[in-house]
Amino acid sequence: MAMEKTYIMLKPDCMKRGLMGEVISRIEHKGYRIVDAKMMNLDEAILREHYAHIADKPFFPEIVAYMTSGPVFGMIVEGENAVLGMRILMGATKFEEAKAGTIRGDYAFSTGENVIHGSDSVENAEIEIKRFFR
Ligand code: TYD
Ligand code: MG
Repeated sequence: MAMEKTYIMLKPDCMKRGLMGEVISRIEHKGYRIVDAKMMNLDEAILREHYAHIADKPFFPEIVAYMTSGPVFGMIVEGENAVLGMRILMGATKFEEAKAGTIRGDYAFSTGENVIHGSDSVENAEIEIKRFFR
């Protein structure tokens, strides 16, 4: 048994397109539980921290503009192997690699605006939960 918590964030395009309910349904139908959640408006400082691994990339200013274009919905999602399980439900980062049946494969039409964030490791999940739910 590996009961895990992961940090999931519905990005501004997900919110604007009215896909929140759809995405949350998929998470619940998988069998995971949402144990905390909140609507937030992010600023550049927290995005520089959260996206430190891409902050020096040429596309980073676009990511900041996108991620501050409207509210996001942050969630702590709990379940058996939830970190990897959520990454599988989400689908690949690059939109052309995200398979149909995954959240990104079904709803994202670009890599920049890809609907959902999910922690990529148990260690990062812990850091991200602290970052957004302290
Ligand atoms: P990353 O953490 O690599 O992907 P993931 O969200 O799947 O964990 O990158 C963070 C976000 O940066 C990603 O969701 C979308 C954006 N991004 C691009 O716009 N272009 C890229 O080439 C990459 C790698 C990421
Ligand atoms: Mg990532």
